[in-house]
Amino acid sequence: MAANRSNHKPIVQVVPDGAALARTAADLFVRFVQEAIVSRGRATVALSGGSTPQKLYALLAGPPNSTRLDFSAIDFFFVDERCVPPDDSESNYCAVNRLLFRAVGVAAEKSHRIRGELAPVVAAVEYEAELRSCFRGGWPQFDLVLLGLGADGHTASIFPGEPTVSEREAWVVHTETDHGIGRRVTLTMAAINHARQILFLVDGAEKADVVARVLGGARELPASRVRPATGECRWLITQSAAFKLPRLG
Ligand code: 6PG
Repeated sequence: MAANRSNHKPIVQVVPDGAALARTAADLFVRFVQEAIVSRGRATVALSGGSTPQKLYALLAGPPNSTRLDFSAIDFFFVDERCVPPDDSESNYCAVNRLLFRAVGVAAEKSHRIRGELAPVVAAVEYEAELRSCFRGGWPQFDLVLLGLGADGHTASIFPGEPTVSEREAWVVHTETDHGIGRRVTLTMAAINHARQILFLVDGAEKADVVARVLGGARELPASRVRPATGECRWLITQSAAFKLPRLG
C-alpha cells in the first residue's frame, strides 16, 4: 500500500501517445481507488474537464476497468466547472456523465457536481458546503485529483495572474476569465494540494513549452503551484507534449 508522504518533486512519466496516456491513467486510477477503498472503505475522486481525460473516462466505463472498480464505493467530485447548464456541451459534468456515469450507473448521491446553471458565486458557496458535508474535520483530502494543463499554464480554472492562485482559506471560488467559457467555479490550489494523489494528464505539441516551463520550475504559473502538502503528484505526458523537457529535447 502506498504511504502518503510529502513530495514536492513530481513523478514524471512520458508515454507514446494519447491512447497510452489513457491506458496508463486508467491503471493508476484503478490502483488509487482500490487502495483508498481498502484503507478507508470509500474513495473520493475529483475529475477535470477538457478534452484530454475523455479517453480515460471512456476506458473506465468499459471492461476490464468497469469490472475492476466498485463504483458504489466512489464519490465523484469535480475540480472545476464552466457556468453553463449540466446538459450544455461545454459542461464538464455533461461530458463525464455521458462518458462514464451513465455507462456504469453511478448513483446520483455519488456524483457531486458543481451547479453551473446557478450564479457563479452561489454555485461556489453551494459546492463548498457540499464538500464540507462530505469531508468533515478539515480540508478535503481527495484520494485522487485529476488535472489538465492549459498552454498558458492554467490548471483547474486557476489562470495566470489571478488572485485565486494564492487563496488560502476558501476551498472553492468562482472566477471570470477570458478563456473560452469565462465564468467558472473551481477548487482552490489550497484544496487541491491537500489531495493524497494528484495526476496531471497532458497531451499535445502546443503544451510542450509550458510543460518544460512548469517542470523546469517556473514558479509564476498556476500549474507550478500544485505541490501536495503530504500527497504525491504525478505527471503523465505524451511524447508530443514532452519533447522540450531537458532530458528528451
Ligand atoms: C477545464 C479544465 C482545464 C483543462 C485544461 C486542459 O474545465 O477546461 O479543468 O483546466 O484541464 O484547460 O484542457 P485540455 O485537456 O482540453 O487540453
